[in-house]
Amino acid sequence: MENNKRTSFSGSIGFVLAAAGSAVGLGNIWRFPYLAAKDGGGLFLVIYVVLALTFGFTLLTTEIAIGRKTKQSPLTAYEKVHPKFKWIGTLACIVPMLIIPYYGAIGGWVVKYFVAFCTGGASKAASDGYFTGFITAPVEPVIYMFIFLLATSFIIYLGVDKGIEKVSKILMPVLVVLVIGIAVFSLTITHTDETGTVRTGMEGLKIYLIPSLEGKTIKDVFIVVMDAMGQLFYSLSIAMGIMVAYGSYVRDDDNLMRSINQIEIFDTAVAFFAGVMIIPAVFAFMGSEGLTSSGPGLMFISLPKVFDEMGGVGTVIGIIFFISVIFAALTSCISIMEAIVSSFMDRFNMSRKKATIIEGLIAIGVGVIVCLGYNALYFEVPLPNGATAQILDIMDYLSNNILMPVVAISTCILIGWVVKSSYVIDEVTKTGAKFGRKQLYKVMIRFIAPVLLVILLLEALGII
Ligand code: PHE
Repeated sequence: MENNKRTSFSGSIGFVLAAAGSAVGLGNIWRFPYLAAKDGGGLFLVIYVVLALTFGFTLLTTEIAIGRKTKQSPLTAYEKVHPKFKWIGTLACIVPMLIIPYYGAIGGWVVKYFVAFCTGGASKAASDGYFTGFITAPVEPVIYMFIFLLATSFIIYLGVDKGIEKVSKILMPVLVVLVIGIAVFSLTITHTDETGTVRTGMEGLKIYLIPSLEGKTIKDVFIVVMDAMGQLFYSLSIAMGIMVAYGSYVRDDDNLMRSINQIEIFDTAVAFFAGVMIIPAVFAFMGSEGLTSSGPGLMFISLPKVFDEMGGVGTVIGIIFFISVIFAALTSCISIMEAIVSSFMDRFNMSRKKATIIEGLIAIGVGVIVCLGYNALYFEVPLPNGATAQILDIMDYLSNNILMPVVAISTCILIGWVVKSSYVIDEVTKTGAKFGRKQLYKVMIRFIAPVLLVILLLEALGII
């Protein structure tokens, strides 16, 4: 596509909401609260916010600036920055191709729960074995994945301003209202269990907010830092090609710094409120035991049980909860598909329609394999980081834990050492905008961010 014909977001609000739509996803609603519960609540929160303002800010700014400066999607952007670094573009395009099929499969699970709650199946959804029964079925998960990815493809087909921007402008504000609404409700809960113990949502909030260092060794704190960094990285949609693609649609007269700050605040605030919505409710009904033992099953196993225990109101809250998660997941899935579709368009000079159809078919095809990974194609392998994996986990591990840190480390080397940080700083300040935290940026991109990323990668590889 010729540069002068490239479509763009209509203005900075459209860009901020689309990018926030990408950033706010399953990671915020499902993973953040579960990590916070596991890692000592307040301690995790404090570390997360500090890293967001330094590490996250550096990487987010870098990718958006690369996109806007080159006016290219990830596959072709990096070679424009420096011809010898063309391969980062290839990697940054493989990452979304790996993520989209399994994100689509999980998006489908959320749709299934939404449908179950709407059709009076709340108690059934709370019963033991429901989740496993559903994901190991041969046909149903495939159908829901298909619906979710078809909706994603349709919005991508409509284009940047008429599809992505329009949908984000509607869904994101609604999402914020719903999440805050449930969070407030969650704080009002009082529950008495069979043993007569009374627990309240407010007590759960305290566990979430107050940092506890009790019994924590240096190694535990190190794990919290690593968890927070991995989460942040994923949550801001960094190293997936997305922010480069979205950056390429930002108008030259937009104040990038202001938009980046807004995106970060949006993403962190939604993650925080997701915790306020989930942790007090799970604590009131299941106690601190329930919080730490739920793990990744928090959203699909523990929460339906909590909604069920609430009685009639639980069905309504459940419906609102799952529709919020659908919105969050859909806007993220859109962004990851756009990273690929825009890459096909730029590299092969394809029309949006053709690129969308091709990528839609690939995503759905691989999505079927991911779903069948719990049925006909079931197997288990141990991963270097100690986890046991099926197809979905393997794709998640390869993209998230290996390729994403590699893309980010290479980007830091490219910008920090090869073309130098002025490449990004000049792009951000070209409209006369001020680059706050400029000195911090220079140090982060050259030294601190790559070192932290290497540690993250070594941890994922099971070396440390
Ligand atoms: N930031 C997203 C989230 O928190 C991560 C993501 C974006 C994943 C786009 C897939 C696609 O869920």
